[in-house]
Amino acid sequence: MTGTEQAPLAITGSTGHLGARVARELSDAGIALRLLARTPSKAPRLPGAVAVESRYANDDTTRRSLSGIDTLFMVSGSESADRLQQHYALIDAAAASGVRHIVYTSFAGAAPDAVFTLARDHWATEQHIIDSGMAYTLLRDNFYIDFLPDLVGEDGVIRGPSGDGAVAAVTREDIARVAATVLRSPTEHAGHTYDLTGPEALTMTDVARILQHHRSEEVSFHNETIDEAYASRRKWEAPQWQYDAWVSTYTAIAAGELATVTRDVEVVTGRPPLSLSAYLSLSSEGQ
Ligand SMILES: NC(=O)c1ccc[n+]([C@@H]2O[C@H](COP(=O)([O-])OP(=O)(O)OC[C@H]3O[C@@H](n4cnc5c(N)ncnc54)[C@H](OP(=O)(O)O)[C@@H]3O)[C@@H](O)[C@H]2O)c1
Repeated sequence: MTGTEQAPLAITGSTGHLGARVARELSDAGIALRLLARTPSKAPRLPGAVAVESRYANDDTTRRSLSGIDTLFMVSGSESADRLQQHYALIDAAAASGVRHIVYTSFAGAAPDAVFTLARDHWATEQHIIDSGMAYTLLRDNFYIDFLPDLVGEDGVIRGPSGDGAVAAVTREDIARVAATVLRSPTEHAGHTYDLTGPEALTMTDVARILQHHRSEEVSFHNETIDEAYASRRKWEAPQWQYDAWVSTYTAIAAGELATVTRDVEVVTGRPPLSLSAYLSLSSEGQ
Protein backbone atom coordinates (compact mmCIF):
# COMPACT_ATOMS: atom_id res chain seq x y z
CA MET A 1 0.00 0.00 0.00
CA THR A 2 1.12 3.57 -0.62
CA GLY A 3 1.10 6.29 2.03
CA THR A 4 -2.34 7.53 0.97
CA GLU A 5 -3.83 4.07 1.30
CA GLN A 6 -2.88 4.21 4.97
CA ALA A 7 -5.30 7.12 5.47
CA PRO A 8 -7.34 6.67 8.63
CA LEU A 9 -10.58 7.76 6.92
CA ALA A 10 -12.56 5.58 4.52
CA ILE A 11 -15.72 6.42 2.62
CA THR A 12 -18.27 4.18 0.93
CA GLY A 13 -20.64 5.36 -1.79
CA SER A 14 -18.17 7.66 -3.57
CA THR A 15 -19.39 6.33 -6.95
CA GLY A 16 -22.84 7.72 -6.03
CA HIS A 17 -24.27 11.21 -5.60
CA LEU A 18 -23.86 11.77 -1.88
CA GLY A 19 -20.56 9.98 -1.29
CA ALA A 20 -18.97 11.74 -4.26
CA ARG A 21 -19.81 15.14 -2.78
CA VAL A 22 -18.43 14.15 0.61
CA ALA A 23 -15.25 12.79 -0.96
CA ARG A 24 -14.76 15.97 -2.99
CA GLU A 25 -15.24 18.25 0.04
CA LEU A 26 -12.70 16.28 2.07
CA SER A 27 -10.21 16.07 -0.77
CA ASP A 28 -10.55 19.84 -1.31
CA ALA A 29 -9.76 20.27 2.40
CA GLY A 30 -6.52 18.32 1.89
CA ILE A 31 -7.65 15.23 3.77
CA ALA A 32 -6.33 11.83 2.63
CA LEU A 33 -9.09 9.34 1.90
CA ARG A 34 -9.62 5.72 1.07
CA LEU A 35 -12.57 5.33 -1.28
CA LEU A 36 -14.18 1.91 -0.76
CA ALA A 37 -15.95 0.78 -3.91
CA ARG A 38 -17.33 -2.37 -5.50
CA THR A 39 -15.83 -1.11 -8.74
CA PRO A 40 -12.82 1.07 -7.85
CA SER A 41 -12.46 2.26 -11.47
CA LYS A 42 -15.82 4.08 -11.06
CA ALA A 43 -14.62 6.05 -8.01
CA PRO A 44 -13.84 9.74 -8.52
CA ARG A 45 -10.20 10.63 -9.10
CA LEU A 46 -9.36 13.16 -6.40
CA PRO A 47 -6.12 14.50 -4.93
CA GLY A 48 -5.16 12.47 -1.86
CA ALA A 49 -7.80 9.79 -2.48
CA VAL A 50 -7.14 6.15 -3.31
CA ALA A 51 -9.87 3.79 -4.48
CA VAL A 52 -9.85 0.29 -3.00
CA GLU A 53 -12.09 -2.68 -3.76
CA SER A 54 -14.64 -3.31 -1.02
CA ARG A 55 -18.21 -4.58 -0.63
CA TYR A 56 -20.98 -4.48 1.94
CA ALA A 57 -19.83 -7.89 3.10
CA ASN A 58 -17.75 -9.41 5.87
CA ASP A 59 -15.19 -11.08 3.60
CA ASP A 60 -11.39 -10.95 3.26
CA THR A 61 -11.46 -8.24 0.57
CA THR A 62 -13.63 -5.97 2.68
CA ARG A 63 -11.70 -6.52 5.91
CA ARG A 64 -8.45 -5.82 4.03
CA SER A 65 -9.98 -2.62 2.61
CA LEU A 66 -10.75 -1.49 6.17
CA SER A 67 -7.46 -2.32 7.80
CA GLY A 68 -5.78 0.69 9.42
CA ILE A 69 -8.95 2.78 9.16
CA ASP A 70 -10.07 4.80 12.20
CA THR A 71 -13.28 6.31 10.84
CA LEU A 72 -15.68 4.86 8.27
CA PHE A 73 -18.33 6.90 6.47
CA MET A 74 -21.00 4.34 5.63
CA VAL A 75 -23.55 5.40 3.05
CA SER A 76 -26.68 3.25 3.26
CA GLY A 77 -26.81 0.72 0.42
CA SER A 78 -29.16 0.80 -2.53
CA GLU A 79 -32.59 -0.61 -1.80
CA SER A 80 -32.62 -4.39 -2.08
CA ALA A 81 -34.24 -7.37 -0.39
CA ASP A 82 -31.06 -8.12 1.60
CA ARG A 83 -29.82 -4.58 2.24
CA LEU A 84 -30.06 -5.01 6.01
CA GLN A 85 -27.90 -8.16 5.94
CA GLN A 86 -25.35 -6.28 3.78
CA HIS A 87 -25.29 -3.44 6.30
CA TYR A 88 -24.78 -5.85 9.20
CA ALA A 89 -21.95 -7.56 7.32
CA LEU A 90 -20.12 -4.29 6.62
CA ILE A 91 -20.48 -3.20 10.26
CA ASP A 92 -19.16 -6.57 11.44
CA ALA A 93 -16.24 -6.32 9.00
CA ALA A 94 -15.46 -2.82 10.29
CA ALA A 95 -15.51 -3.94 13.93
CA ALA A 96 -13.31 -6.96 13.10
CA SER A 97 -10.84 -4.70 11.26
CA GLY A 98 -10.34 -2.29 14.15
CA VAL A 99 -12.42 0.64 12.86
CA ARG A 100 -13.14 2.92 15.81
CA HIS A 101 -15.94 5.15 14.58
CA ILE A 102 -18.76 4.77 12.04
CA VAL A 103 -20.66 7.71 10.57
CA TYR A 104 -23.86 6.33 9.02
CA THR A 105 -26.44 7.98 6.76
CA SER A 106 -29.70 6.91 8.38
CA PHE A 107 -33.20 8.20 7.80
CA ALA A 108 -35.59 10.63 9.50
CA GLY A 109 -37.83 8.96 12.05
CA ALA A 110 -35.87 5.69 11.99
CA ALA A 111 -37.81 3.37 14.31
CA PRO A 112 -38.82 -0.29 14.48
CA ASP A 113 -42.45 0.64 13.82
CA ALA A 114 -41.90 3.53 11.37
CA VAL A 115 -44.62 3.90 8.74
CA PHE A 116 -41.93 4.27 6.05
CA THR A 117 -40.87 0.65 5.77
CA LEU A 118 -37.22 1.41 4.90
CA ALA A 119 -36.86 3.57 8.02
CA ARG A 120 -37.25 0.32 10.02
CA ASP A 121 -34.11 -1.07 8.32
CA HIS A 122 -32.26 2.15 9.07
CA TRP A 123 -33.22 1.78 12.74
CA ALA A 124 -32.00 -1.84 12.77
CA THR A 125 -28.73 -0.74 11.15
CA GLU A 126 -28.30 1.99 13.77
CA GLN A 127 -28.83 -0.58 16.54
CA HIS A 128 -26.26 -2.90 15.00
CA ILE A 129 -23.72 -0.06 14.91
CA ILE A 130 -24.46 0.90 18.52
CA ASP A 131 -24.27 -2.73 19.66
CA SER A 132 -20.91 -3.17 17.87
CA GLY A 133 -19.22 -1.03 20.53
CA MET A 134 -17.63 1.31 17.94
CA ALA A 135 -18.15 5.04 18.37
CA TYR A 136 -20.86 6.31 16.07
CA THR A 137 -22.48 9.38 14.57
CA LEU A 138 -25.90 8.95 12.96
CA LEU A 139 -27.02 11.33 10.23
CA ARG A 140 -30.78 10.90 9.99
CA ASP A 141 -31.50 12.41 6.58
CA ASN A 142 -34.96 13.58 5.62
CA PHE A 143 -36.08 12.98 2.02
CA TYR A 144 -33.79 14.50 -0.56
CA ILE A 145 -35.03 17.79 -1.99
CA ASP A 146 -33.20 16.72 -5.15
CA PHE A 147 -35.72 13.90 -5.48
CA LEU A 148 -38.92 16.02 -5.22
CA PRO A 149 -38.98 17.14 -8.91
CA ASP A 150 -38.89 13.45 -9.92
CA LEU A 151 -42.19 12.82 -8.15
CA VAL A 152 -44.07 14.69 -10.88
CA GLY A 153 -45.64 12.35 -13.45
CA GLU A 154 -45.59 13.01 -17.19
CA ASP A 155 -49.04 14.59 -16.84
CA GLY A 156 -47.75 17.16 -14.32
CA VAL A 157 -49.36 15.41 -11.32
CA ILE A 158 -47.73 14.25 -8.08
CA ARG A 159 -49.71 11.24 -6.90
CA GLY A 160 -49.57 9.63 -3.47
CA PRO A 161 -51.44 9.20 -0.19
CA SER A 162 -49.66 11.95 1.79
CA GLY A 163 -52.80 13.99 2.58
CA ASP A 164 -51.99 17.26 4.33
CA GLY A 165 -48.77 15.84 5.79
CA ALA A 166 -45.53 17.76 5.33
CA VAL A 167 -41.96 16.81 4.52
CA ALA A 168 -38.90 18.74 5.75
CA ALA A 169 -36.80 17.62 2.77
CA VAL A 170 -33.09 18.51 2.62
CA THR A 171 -30.60 18.74 -0.24
CA ARG A 172 -27.91 16.13 -0.75
CA GLU A 173 -25.46 19.04 -0.78
CA ASP A 174 -26.39 20.02 2.78
CA ILE A 175 -26.15 16.42 3.98
CA ALA A 176 -22.72 16.16 2.34
CA ARG A 177 -21.56 19.37 4.07
CA VAL A 178 -22.65 17.96 7.43
CA ALA A 179 -20.95 14.62 6.74
CA ALA A 180 -17.71 16.30 5.68
CA THR A 181 -17.73 18.49 8.80
CA VAL A 182 -18.29 15.48 11.04
CA LEU A 183 -15.58 13.47 9.26
CA ARG A 184 -13.04 16.26 9.68
CA SER A 185 -13.29 15.93 13.49
CA PRO A 186 -15.24 12.76 14.26
CA THR A 187 -14.44 12.62 17.97
CA GLU A 188 -16.33 15.89 18.53
CA HIS A 189 -19.43 14.28 17.06
CA ALA A 190 -19.19 10.83 18.65
CA GLY A 191 -22.46 9.63 20.15
CA HIS A 192 -24.52 12.27 18.34
CA THR A 193 -27.58 11.71 16.18
CA TYR A 194 -28.33 14.59 13.83
CA ASP A 195 -31.74 15.05 12.23
CA LEU A 196 -30.93 16.67 8.90
CA THR A 197 -33.77 18.68 7.40
CA GLY A 198 -34.29 21.61 5.13
CA PRO A 199 -35.50 24.96 6.49
CA GLU A 200 -39.25 24.25 6.12
CA ALA A 201 -41.82 21.47 6.03
CA LEU A 202 -43.86 21.39 2.83
CA THR A 203 -47.05 19.54 1.98
CA MET A 204 -47.18 17.97 -1.47
CA THR A 205 -49.56 20.77 -2.44
CA ASP A 206 -46.80 23.25 -1.47
CA VAL A 207 -44.22 21.20 -3.40
CA ALA A 208 -46.44 21.22 -6.51
CA ARG A 209 -46.93 25.00 -6.23
CA ILE A 210 -43.20 25.69 -5.90
CA LEU A 211 -42.33 23.36 -8.79
CA GLN A 212 -45.01 24.98 -10.95
CA HIS A 213 -43.56 28.41 -10.22
CA HIS A 214 -40.06 27.29 -11.27
CA ARG A 215 -41.10 25.23 -14.26
CA SER A 216 -43.71 27.65 -15.63
CA GLU A 217 -45.95 24.66 -16.34
CA GLU A 218 -48.86 23.28 -14.40
CA VAL A 219 -48.02 20.94 -11.52
CA SER A 220 -50.64 19.63 -9.10
CA PHE A 221 -50.99 17.12 -6.29
CA HIS A 222 -53.54 14.29 -6.25
CA ASN A 223 -54.06 12.73 -2.83
CA GLU A 224 -54.47 9.05 -3.75
CA THR A 225 -56.09 6.48 -1.47
CA ILE A 226 -53.71 3.72 -0.40
CA ASP A 227 -55.39 1.28 -2.83
CA GLU A 228 -55.02 3.78 -5.67
CA ALA A 229 -51.36 4.25 -4.76
CA TYR A 230 -50.59 0.52 -5.00
CA ALA A 231 -52.58 0.24 -8.23
CA SER A 232 -50.85 3.20 -9.92
CA ARG A 233 -47.40 1.79 -9.05
CA ARG A 234 -48.14 -1.69 -10.34
CA LYS A 235 -47.39 -0.46 -13.86
CA TRP A 236 -43.75 -0.95 -12.80
CA GLU A 237 -42.81 -4.56 -12.14
CA ALA A 238 -41.32 -4.77 -8.64
CA PRO A 239 -41.22 -7.02 -5.57
CA GLN A 240 -43.84 -6.40 -2.86
CA TRP A 241 -41.31 -4.81 -0.43
CA GLN A 242 -40.54 -2.20 -3.12
CA TYR A 243 -44.22 -1.30 -3.60
CA ASP A 244 -44.55 -1.04 0.19
CA ALA A 245 -41.53 1.28 0.31
CA TRP A 246 -42.86 3.49 -2.50
CA VAL A 247 -46.35 3.82 -1.02
CA SER A 248 -45.15 4.25 2.55
CA THR A 249 -42.98 7.17 1.42
CA TYR A 250 -46.29 9.03 1.19
CA THR A 251 -48.14 7.47 4.12
CA ALA A 252 -45.14 8.36 6.34
CA ILE A 253 -45.54 11.98 5.26
CA ALA A 254 -49.29 11.77 5.99
CA ALA A 255 -48.47 10.38 9.44
CA GLY A 256 -46.17 13.33 10.20
CA GLU A 257 -42.96 11.24 10.40
CA LEU A 258 -41.04 13.65 8.17
CA ALA A 259 -42.47 16.99 9.24
CA THR A 260 -40.14 18.08 12.04
CA VAL A 261 -37.79 20.89 11.01
CA THR A 262 -34.49 21.01 12.89
CA ARG A 263 -31.50 23.37 12.96
CA ASP A 264 -28.95 20.56 12.88
CA VAL A 265 -27.52 21.41 9.42
CA GLU A 266 -26.78 24.93 10.60
CA VAL A 267 -25.60 23.85 14.06
CA VAL A 268 -23.03 21.45 12.56
CA THR A 269 -21.89 23.46 9.51
CA GLY A 270 -22.58 27.07 10.55
CA ARG A 271 -24.69 27.60 7.42
CA PRO A 272 -28.48 27.22 7.07
CA PRO A 273 -29.79 24.59 4.64
CA LEU A 274 -31.22 25.34 1.21
CA SER A 275 -34.99 25.44 0.66
CA LEU A 276 -36.66 23.70 -2.30
CA SER A 277 -37.10 27.07 -3.97
CA ALA A 278 -33.44 28.06 -3.51
CA TYR A 279 -32.32 24.62 -4.72
CA LEU A 280 -34.42 24.95 -7.90
CA SER A 281 -33.09 28.45 -8.57
CA LEU A 282 -29.50 27.27 -8.17
CA SER A 283 -30.14 24.20 -10.36
CA SER A 284 -31.60 26.31 -13.17
CA GLU A 285 -28.64 28.72 -12.95
CA GLY A 286 -26.31 25.75 -13.32
CA GLN A 287 -28.01 24.54 -16.52
N1 LIG B 1 -33.00 10.50 1.84
C1 LIG B 1 -33.49 10.14 0.67
O1 LIG B 1 -34.44 10.73 0.13
C2 LIG B 1 -32.88 9.01 -0.09
C3 LIG B 1 -33.33 8.75 -1.38
C4 LIG B 1 -32.74 7.72 -2.09
C5 LIG B 1 -31.74 6.95 -1.48
N2 LIG B 1 -31.34 7.23 -0.22
C6 LIG B 1 -30.27 6.42 0.43
O2 LIG B 1 -29.08 7.22 0.48
C7 LIG B 1 -28.00 6.51 -0.13
C8 LIG B 1 -27.05 7.47 -0.82
O3 LIG B 1 -27.77 8.25 -1.75
P1 LIG B 1 -27.16 8.59 -3.18
O4 LIG B 1 -28.07 9.59 -3.75
O5 LIG B 1 -25.72 8.88 -3.07
O6 LIG B 1 -27.35 7.17 -3.90
P2 LIG B 1 -26.63 6.68 -5.24
O7 LIG B 1 -26.23 7.81 -6.09
O8 LIG B 1 -27.49 5.60 -5.78
O9 LIG B 1 -25.27 6.01 -4.68
C9 LIG B 1 -25.29 4.89 -3.85
C10 LIG B 1 -23.83 4.55 -3.54
O10 LIG B 1 -23.78 3.48 -2.60
C11 LIG B 1 -23.04 2.40 -3.17
N3 LIG B 1 -23.69 1.14 -2.80
C12 LIG B 1 -25.01 0.90 -2.81
N4 LIG B 1 -25.25 -0.35 -2.42
C13 LIG B 1 -24.04 -0.90 -2.15
C14 LIG B 1 -23.64 -2.18 -1.72
N5 LIG B 1 -24.53 -3.14 -1.50
N6 LIG B 1 -22.31 -2.42 -1.58
C15 LIG B 1 -21.41 -1.44 -1.84
N7 LIG B 1 -21.74 -0.20 -2.25
C16 LIG B 1 -23.05 0.06 -2.41
C17 LIG B 1 -23.13 2.59 -4.67
O11 LIG B 1 -22.02 1.92 -5.27
P3 LIG B 1 -22.07 1.31 -6.77
O12 LIG B 1 -21.65 2.45 -7.67
O13 LIG B 1 -21.11 0.18 -6.73
O14 LIG B 1 -23.49 0.88 -7.01
C18 LIG B 1 -23.04 4.10 -4.77
O15 LIG B 1 -21.72 4.55 -4.63
C19 LIG B 1 -28.68 5.51 -1.08
O16 LIG B 1 -27.84 4.39 -1.31
C20 LIG B 1 -29.93 5.14 -0.29
O17 LIG B 1 -29.67 4.16 0.67
C21 LIG B 1 -31.88 8.25 0.48
